[in-house]
Amino acid sequence: MRISNFTIRISQLPIRNRKVMTEFKVFRFDPEKDKFSRFESYQVPWEKGMTVLEGLIYIFDNLDGSLSFRSSCRAAVCGSCAMHITTGFALGENGKYRLACNTLIESLVKQGSGIITIQPLAHLLVYKDLVVDMTNFFKNYESIKPYLIPNEPIPAKEFIQSPSERKKIDGAIDCILCGACYGSCPVAGTNPDYAGPHSILKTLRFYNDSRDTGKKERLNLIGNNYGLFRCHSVFNCQIVCPKKLDPGDAIAQMKKRVIWSMIKQCLGFS
Ligand code: SF4
Ligand code: FES
Repeated sequence: MRISNFTIRISQLPIRNRKVMTEFKVFRFDPEKDKFSRFESYQVPWEKGMTVLEGLIYIFDNLDGSLSFRSSCRAAVCGSCAMHITTGFALGENGKYRLACNTLIESLVKQGSGIITIQPLAHLLVYKDLVVDMTNFFKNYESIKPYLIPNEPIPAKEFIQSPSERKKIDGAIDCILCGACYGSCPVAGTNPDYAGPHSILKTLRFYNDSRDTGKKERLNLIGNNYGLFRCHSVFNCQIVCPKKLDPGDAIAQMKKRVIWSMIKQCLGFS
């Protein structure tokens, strides 16, 4: 099963010089049939420029149509193809959560053992193979009110924002909710109620938005037991984000704001 709205299948594209073979070791689990999960190996022919997602599509189209994975845009935009991809040695920039659609097979083969091992995002229930249940991830996200809480009255046409005001939300606005930071976070793994790096980054994004008037509410929502102060500063989220965002820094920035607002409250300034 491929969960995708993309209609062009890679196997229908011209294949040039697909001579090099690489082993893909893919996590498999079908709750309807399997008692335990396992890894299955596939030989995938590839050429320069081919991504891990294209390798999975090759397996689906040519070797095993029962393999399940998510993908849609194939351009690092929709966030649906995040998974753990490694080539054997989980060192540095190798073994980590990545987007399969922007990870080149070539770059992995150069770095590691040559066997590409693929597993689903951690801390979430596996529906089948590489497809996980994102319910908890989005439940945590919804808890921070991820939308503008605007001033009244709402302008008839549009909110005006100056270039410098817009600049304040640069970066954080690019989060594609792929879940790579969540999968890499040990706190999210041990406490499903923890808001997670993605939610805190988005809190900062709305907090810094000149059109938002929910700042105080946002500090209360994220300054609780399951928010900011649950973070243990492991900083895996900084390493894995495929959009080069820094949820760890967003957590530090929001902590400063929450602590400052508590001090002000104690001193009777607000
Ligand atoms: S912060 Fe980065 S890793 Fe986390 S959900 Fe957003 S894009 Fe993905
Ligand atoms: S398929 Fe959309 S981000 Fe990879």
